[in-house]
This record gives sequence, C-alpha cells and structure tokens, in this order.
Amino acid sequence: MALTVVPVELAERSYEITIGPGVLASSGSALKAAGARRAVIIADSGVLVTHAAAIDGSLRHAGISTLTIPVQRGEASKSVTEAARLWEALAAANVDRGTHIVAVGGGVVGDLAGFVAASFARGLPVWQVPTTLVAQVDSAIGGKTGINLHGGKNLVGAFWQPRGVLADTETLASLPPREYISGLAEVVKYGMILDRHLLERLESRAGAILAREPADVEAIVVRSASLKASVVSRDEHEQTGLRAILNYGHTFAHAYENALGYGTLLHGEAVAIGMADAAELAVRLGRIPAELARRQDALLTALHLPARLPSGPKPSPEELVALMARDKKTLHGKLRFILSKQLGEVELVEGIDPSVVLDVLARMP
Ligand SMILES: NC(=O)c1ccc[n+]([C@@H]2O[C@H](COP(=O)([O-])OP(=O)(O)OC[C@H]3O[C@@H](n4cnc5c(N)ncnc54)[C@H](O)[C@@H]3O)[C@@H](O)[C@H]2O)c1
Ligand SMILES: [Zn+2]
Repeated sequence: MALTVVPVELAERSYEITIGPGVLASSGSALKAAGARRAVIIADSGVLVTHAAAIDGSLRHAGISTLTIPVQRGEASKSVTEAARLWEALAAANVDRGTHIVAVGGGVVGDLAGFVAASFARGLPVWQVPTTLVAQVDSAIGGKTGINLHGGKNLVGAFWQPRGVLADTETLASLPPREYISGLAEVVKYGMILDRHLLERLESRAGAILAREPADVEAIVVRSASLKASVVSRDEHEQTGLRAILNYGHTFAHAYENALGYGTLLHGEAVAIGMADAAELAVRLGRIPAELARRQDALLTALHLPARLPSGPKPSPEELVALMARDKKTLHGKLRFILSKQLGEVELVEGIDPSVVLDVLARMP
C-alpha cells in the first residue's frame, strides 16, 4: 500500500504526517533528508524491542548515530522526575542542537519527549513516531507537549511542533484491544464534530475496523489526522476557539477521569461516555433531535465503546459538575460545552444551566 502524506501548514513550522504500513522503515531517510546526524530515540518500554528497534535499524542504516533511552510505560512517566532524568541523560550524551529527538510510543512518550525536546537547550528538533491509535489520530499532531504535576494533568508544557510525524499503521497490530478501541473514541469525535462521511464510514465498517483490517485502519487514521492537521493549522495556539471543538465530550470525560482516578477508565472510554452525555445535553437543550444522540450511542456500542459509566460506585452528579467548573478549559467557572448542531458540526455553548447538566448526569441508562 502506498503511503499518504498529510501536510500540517504552519508557515515556517510546517511539517508532514506520513501515514501507512511500513513507515518506520523509511524513518532513516526522513531524518537524513532533514539533516540529522545524530538521534536520541526516547521509547516507551512497551515498544522498545519491536518498533523502537526497527527505527534504530533504519536510522543507523541511513548513517545516523543513535542512542535509545527507554521510558517505563504508563501515565506516571509524564512526570517532572522523568523529564529531569531525560534532561540529564541528554546532557550526559553531549546532545546539541544538531541532534534530533525521536519519540516512539503513545501519547505518554510523545508528550514527555516532546516537552523534553522543547525545553532542552531551548529546543531540539523532535520527530513524533506514534504507535497507538490515540497518538496517530491525535496526540502526535499539533505540538502540544507536557507533563503532569501532582496538582493536575498536563499542567506544565509547551507548544512544540515536531519536524515530522511518522505514523506506521502496522504498529497498531500489536496494540492491546482495549487501547485500540479507546483510540476509536477520538475517531468518532472527529466524525461528530467535522465529518459526517467519516462517521458513516465508522458505522458501515465497524466490524472491519474492530478487526483492524489494514485498509480500514489506514483510512480512519488518514482522515482523522487530516482533520486534526487542518484544525491545528487554523488555530495553532487555541486562540480563535476553533481548536476547542476538539474537546467535544471532553468536559465530561475530564470530570470522570478526575473523579474516578486516572487509570480506571482509559481516556477514550471516558471520552465515549462524555460524548454520549454531550449529545444528551444537546437533546435536552433542544439543539439536536433525540435520534442523533441515539445514533451516536449505537455507533459507540458497535465499536465496543461504553456510552455509560460501567456499574460500580459512581461519582455523584454534583461532584462531577463541581469538577467541570474547575476544569482548566473553564472560563470564570462558567460551564462551557462543545455541542452538536447537526451530524458533523458542533459549536461552543457557554453559560449552560447547571441543573440541566445535573439531570443529564443523573439519567438512568
Ligand atoms: N498532546 C496532545 O495533543 C494529546 C492529545 C491526546 C492525548 N494526549 C496524552 O496522551 C496520553 C495517552 O496516550 P495513549 O493513549 O497513546 O497511551 P500510552 O502512551 O500510555 O500508551 C498506551 C499503552 O500502549 C502501549 N503501546 C504503545 N504502542 C504500542 C504498540 N504499538 N503495541 C503494543 N503496545 C503499545 C504502551 O506501552 C502503553 O502501555 C495521555 O497522557 C494524554 O494526556 C495528548
Ligand atoms: Zn482526547
């Protein structure tokens, strides 16, 4: 299969997302063409001996000297401690601005290594090599990098655009099913906010997508990455409000993740439930017909994503709304949501009566 190149247009910070099977094998020539002589591969421990080793081979074959630094898998690695360890390792290796950083893994390593690249020596070139679906359709694109503090997720970070994104869709074959399915929630999101054709494709090809048919996986990654690229190129620093539409379902999702403790639900699972809530809220506010909310629920179910919280102890609606009011995307404590206008189109709605939100959260399945 041929590779697809999606441009991210950002003037002097423009770059390409290369998508398809076998992209890893071309990483050496891509970095060489960009002038890299040395590379530090920062790799998730879960892909160290597989995908990171393949990149290492390709870079060396292209005459680029390499050093690989593994990062323990898991969200806990997006920490100050881990960033400091990487800074010291780069210093010990005498890394200078001619060295390229290559981030191999999911959003955890992409965010961490991206932030280390942004901050070390006031900025090193970084390549994002996403190996999870979340990273290929979302986190590797757009330049948001960062780490967590005890006081909150992604509280320290920088906008730092990569030199390029190398999304090898074959790497997704080794992803655990729950991680893959979780990533599909972000793809549903793109369909709901921007692209009814993508949503219809998810509906008609749900089985093939779940079975990770290569052509289906490639098609949804290409479309999602293109949509993210286009939003980012029109609102790089989240200033016009356009990039905010990517937070569809996320106000609810962040509250669930926060209330349940990170790691109980995968991010995409929380987003799926959050999108179901957002649709129900839009219905109750008379913005969309109930049929659209049911349609989204049906798609989530077809993709094996949750549309409601799993049974067990649940946070109260009041607690969730209090968390939403404290969300860093909230302005002056006013509740803001991205809500559907119609399939493939959303808008930012502010100042919603909290009692309607409480009712949505308290509804029975
Ligand atoms: N920067 C952004 O714009 C942005 C956007 C969305 C999410 N994020 C961040 O991304 C992170 C979540 O990323 P994620 O969902 O990719 O999780 P992740 O990076 O934790 O990866 C999930 C798991 O998959 C394993 N893994 C990765 N690739 C694999 C492969 N090909 N085969 C087998 N196992 C593999 C990893 O070892 C890990 O255990 C969060 O920290 C979130 O804040 C950032
Ligand atoms: Zn998300």
